[in-house]
Amino acid sequence: MTPPAVGFFDSGLGGTTVARAFLRLRPRAPVFYVADWEHCPYGGRPDPDIRARALEIGAELLEERGCAMLVVACNSASAVALDALRAAHPGVPVVGMEPAVKPAAAMSRTGCVGILATAHTLRGRLFRETAARHAAGVRVETAVGEGFVELAEAGDVSSPAARETAARVLAPLLAARCDPIVLGCTHYPLLLPLLRAVAPEARFLDPAEAVARRAASLWDALAAAAR
Ligand code: DGL
Repeated sequence: MTPPAVGFFDSGLGGTTVARAFLRLRPRAPVFYVADWEHCPYGGRPDPDIRARALEIGAELLEERGCAMLVVACNSASAVALDALRAAHPGVPVVGMEPAVKPAAAMSRTGCVGILATAHTLRGRLFRETAARHAAGVRVETAVGEGFVELAEAGDVSSPAARETAARVLAPLLAARCDPIVLGCTHYPLLLPLLRAVAPEARFLDPAEAVARRAASLWDALAAAAR
């Protein structure tokens, strides 16, 4: 019996940080990955456009490629399209990126956590509800990673312009002594060498691992049912 396939998608390379974390846990799982480069970056596009892209890509992965589950490896698409994807594919496990406010609040050494994400994610209901539910007792500071997706796509983690961009974006979070700073866009972990160089004293939290663990447990259930 062929193991069930998992479909991942993102506006570009960002979701590979999640797919890689999943494949470290389940190396035998067949994986399809769609990078929607034609529409990258999603940041700045109207919500209905991102929702339409997510529905189209979701249908391709599930209906044409035969994937048995979907991982929306993009915080922005999760923020605007998760409900629509689940409604369009009832019975299919659809895993989305969640802003990691709860683990960040639990590990904070300063009582202030930083969330670095796209404007879509920070505006979305998912983030607002998660922050309201899990940020009790800590302050939440947010910042939009303006220019970060472009740097990640270009693989630029060291040019003077990249350092300047990173320093500008991180400045308010560092001034507020945020600990940790959540990487709330799947592209941002690709910039970790840059972020660590600019803010060596900061702790960064990548939610990919937790999402990959959730996807792995759903995949195990599908694989067991297929046997
Ligand atoms: N990787 C994305 C996210 O997690 C997409 C960012 C973009 O394309 O603007 O939000």
